[in-house]
Amino acid sequence: MSSHLLITGASQLLTLRGRVPRRGKFLSDIGVIRDGALLIRDGVIAAVGTRLEIESLSEARSAGKFDVGGRVVLPGFVDSHTHLIHAASRVEEYELKIKGASYEEMAHKGGGILNSVRKLRAATGESLKKRAHAALLEFAAHGTTTLEAKSGYGLDVASELKILRLHKELSAEQPLDIVSTFLGAHVVPSEFRSKPDGSAKYVALLTDKLIPEVAAEQLAEFCDAFCDRGAFSLSEAKKILEAGKQHGLWPRLHAEQLTRSGATQLGVQLGAASCDHLEQVNKADIRALAKSNTVATLLPGCDFHLGLKKYAPARALIDAGAIVALATDYNPGTSPTVSMPMILSLACSQLRMSPAEALVAATINAAYSLKREKRIGSLETGKQANIAVFDVDDYREIPYYFGVNKCWMTLKRGQPVFERTHASGWPLQNPL
Ligand code: NIG
Ligand code: FE
Repeated sequence: MSSHLLITGASQLLTLRGRVPRRGKFLSDIGVIRDGALLIRDGVIAAVGTRLEIESLSEARSAGKFDVGGRVVLPGFVDSHTHLIHAASRVEEYELKIKGASYEEMAHKGGGILNSVRKLRAATGESLKKRAHAALLEFAAHGTTTLEAKSGYGLDVASELKILRLHKELSAEQPLDIVSTFLGAHVVPSEFRSKPDGSAKYVALLTDKLIPEVAAEQLAEFCDAFCDRGAFSLSEAKKILEAGKQHGLWPRLHAEQLTRSGATQLGVQLGAASCDHLEQVNKADIRALAKSNTVATLLPGCDFHLGLKKYAPARALIDAGAIVALATDYNPGTSPTVSMPMILSLACSQLRMSPAEALVAATINAAYSLKREKRIGSLETGKQANIAVFDVDDYREIPYYFGVNKCWMTLKRGQPVFERTHASGWPLQNPL
């Protein structure tokens, strides 16, 4: 027996149908249907259209019915860059940052990523899982239905494998699907820093031992590297990502975040799925991205949290024709947020993207960067019924109301994974 669900009452249904991936002027195609409806069969979208069209289908008559009361319906967000599994916040660094310490200064003093590595190694799998599961519920409560998660706070064989196995367990147990990325190349861990040729030895551990094991156990789909001052050089990143590629782990990169390292052009040459951050890109990097199928994933939460004024040049990237995506970069050091709506607000006000462009960047283009554009990222027949319902009248209000969660319901394969239990009705619109 198949199960059917009919969703009606969408004042605006954003289908996000259209060409994939979206570049340039197509980045604002969100495919709005007014008074929209959706028919879901066994967790998959069976039909999308206006209420009149969908209600007239014979399958719709016997379906369970759900009216969303004039709210806005859109595909669940695809958060294509997170560091889901970490043991604790780094709030102690927050005040130092506010007082003016730079991210790199704190890293030099044994804070930063190495601080999180120490904490993760000391934590039990059970406590890490509990913390990540709680975060996943919060992601779902903000409209996210798929999320990429990177390892990278273990940096030894046992701890990296522990993180990646947790990705698998968490994904199987729901509420959200997790796309796993191996980021052994986050920084060189302390025990290698004290050795002669320590970083070369650590790179060899990654290429000769960890990458083959991760691939053999099918623990990740992607291999990432943080290519920047204080992390990995361009030639080290190249070695690591090429080794990943040989083992079937597709490359993605942390590129041009703190300094311009040339990582973007390396990413393009390797056919990377995405280059992320991009605050320091130059014109040649923008051109290279524009000519490629490598997604430019922007992470404005980092610049906001670190109080940096130089955001990635989103407009130049869009105008040149790059495929732009947005993500939270959820992590304890630079972007402790699970909220894609907040990222949309930053994209609009700081990156000067329109609300429609930001929504495309947070759904279908992000799905493309995870090689899942055929299954998720838009509301079209045959795709997974991953849906976010926002308690707004107009989709532009999703970024407009910043710092407040207007997500009202989230469905994963047609099943609710988040439902708002209290609704103040705020803000009441006065009749004109
Ligand atoms: O994406 N840039 C490197 N990795 C993270 C930060 C990780 C941390 O500070 O813990 C990022 O910003
Ligand atoms: Fe990151």
